[in-house]
Amino acid sequence: MTQIVMPMHTNGVAGVMFGGIMMQWIDVCAGVAAMRHAAGAVLTASIDRLDFLSPVQVGEIVVLQAQVNYAHKTSMEVGCRVETEDMVRRDRRYVTKAYLTFVAIDGLGKPRPIQPLELVTDQDRRRHADAELRRKERLRAAGRGNR
Ligand SMILES: CC(C)(COP(=O)(O)OP(=O)(O)OC[C@H]1O[C@@H](n2cnc3c(N)ncnc32)[C@H](O)[C@@H]1OP(=O)(O)O)[C@@H](O)C(=O)NCCC(=O)NCCS
Repeated sequence: MTQIVMPMHTNGVAGVMFGGIMMQWIDVCAGVAAMRHAAGAVLTASIDRLDFLSPVQVGEIVVLQAQVNYAHKTSMEVGCRVETEDMVRRDRRYVTKAYLTFVAIDGLGKPRPIQPLELVTDQDRRRHADAELRRKERLRAAGRGNR
């Protein structure tokens, strides 16, 4: 997903992008990946910590890339990486990344089963294994251990 930062996206401090808008873009980008995998509606169940490493300025192009890392029964972890793109130098600067958990829901808003994830590359398998560990820790921290 590609966006351009406009004045309405700033927090009023020296043309720097507002973090809440970035969080919304991340939620949308990752949510679309989750909906594609679930073939239907999803809800955001959790967003892991977000660290913004460098300010994003008005006029910059923001590129968000999302991938489903892990699918369990009804939930899935999606990773979203955010970079800015320099149009002149044609390079990118890393801004932040986030791991989000989405739950597929039926017409009544209840969790519904999703397809297992097809792991194609070694990178897919590595991301899947890492995500499995994060899921355990996330659920433990949320007081939902042993599920
Ligand atoms: C997310 C939600 C549907 C889960 O409902 P629930 O009744 O707790 O459902 P369950 O206990 O059966 O859990 C369903 C799945 O969600 C996962 N889950 C629930 N809470 C979670 C959390 N805080 N973090 C990560 N995963 C979570 C469970 O691990 C489970 O995954 P699995 O089926 O793949 O094993 C429910 O909490 C909800 O509707 N939350 C509000 C979501 C929302 O409105 N988001 C937008 C915010 S504005």
